[in-house]
Amino acid sequence: MPSPDDRLIGAETGLAAVMSRARMVSRSNAPVLVFGETGTGKEVIARAIHEDSAFRKGPFRRVNCGAISPDLIDSELFGHEPGAFTGATARRRGWFEQADGGTLFLDEVGELSLPAQVRLLRVVQDGEVVRVGGERAIRVSVRLVAATHRDLPSMVEAGTFREDLYYRLAVYPIVIPPLRDRHADIRAFAEYFAARAADRFGVRPVPVSDEDVRWLSAYHWPGNVREIAAVMDRAVLIGQGRALEIVAALGPTTRPTAASSTPRHGATEATTDAIESLDAAMRRHIERALRHTRGRIEGRQGAARLLQINPHTLRARMRKLQVDWTSFREGETGDG
Ligand SMILES: Nc1ncnc2c1ncn2[C@@H]1O[C@H](COP(=O)(O)OP(=O)(O)O)[C@@H](O)[C@H]1O
Ligand SMILES: [Mg+2]
Repeated sequence: MPSPDDRLIGAETGLAAVMSRARMVSRSNAPVLVFGETGTGKEVIARAIHEDSAFRKGPFRRVNCGAISPDLIDSELFGHEPGAFTGATARRRGWFEQADGGTLFLDEVGELSLPAQVRLLRVVQDGEVVRVGGERAIRVSVRLVAATHRDLPSMVEAGTFREDLYYRLAVYPIVIPPLRDRHADIRAFAEYFAARAADRFGVRPVPVSDEDVRWLSAYHWPGNVREIAAVMDRAVLIGQGRALEIVAALGPTTRPTAASSTPRHGATEATTDAIESLDAAMRRHIERALRHTRGRIEGRQGAARLLQINPHTLRARMRKLQVDWTSFREGETGDG
């Protein structure tokens, strides 16, 4: 959770376009829809918009639409009166009321069920909420910032996201690029998170080298900024103030690339993806390691160490799987 002394990295570089769009809209009361993969900084931008808006004296409330069970969503968003349903003993003010005069950040808005979308649309249109079990309409003045990692236009086409709500929320869309497309900022992120980690863990800070930056730039960052923060934490912890162990820190970050778009609840996920053979998976994994190490096999920064196997074993396996390690070598060393 960003605190006021947290820096926003890349405001003038990788996020320049994002920031200029954010500034353009922040002073209005128009809803904003923020698109971006998980960990790209959607919440960071939502807060920046809040801080730069007429609503900044009011609260900033975040609600994760994907984490609320469908039968509680109305009560969460709009509140309830005592006795509205079993278990509703006291009155509860919903998120809209709690955010009154400020910003309501509807995170993962693409996860809302269709019935919840209908009710959200009504509030967005009327600027009024009715608590569950209540009768009175309560006026709320709330700036809405919604965010999603999903392709909402496709969801609209597929009928899983209401078109009318989409156009209400997407008055002003902002797209945050993934970290892998913000190469100019990798060093700044690495330095910031390395310094923060050293401070947190009480170890001596170690500067980030050009070599470190090359390693980090070669990686594709499916978890984006959140992931580079974790990698730098790990690099600092493993290095213990003597070194930044970037290679070792990058090593165990293997994970399925589709995981970030897995539905959180309720959905019966379509598992129609063909399962690839073990050899194919192994080949891909080895190739990934080679991409990291730029074709290097042996030594401290070699693929064998990343994969935690003997270099001879790795060579034998590459022959068997017909992996061409030379294609991962760089044309020149780039060391100068
Ligand atoms: N530009 C940035 N500068 C500094 N920290 C950032 C930046 N973007 C993201 N972060 C940090 O990365 C983490 C993930 O950001 P977050 O806004 O929660 O991503 P998202 O909501 O897109 O999943 C947070 O800890 C946040 O503080
Ligand atoms: Mg988030």
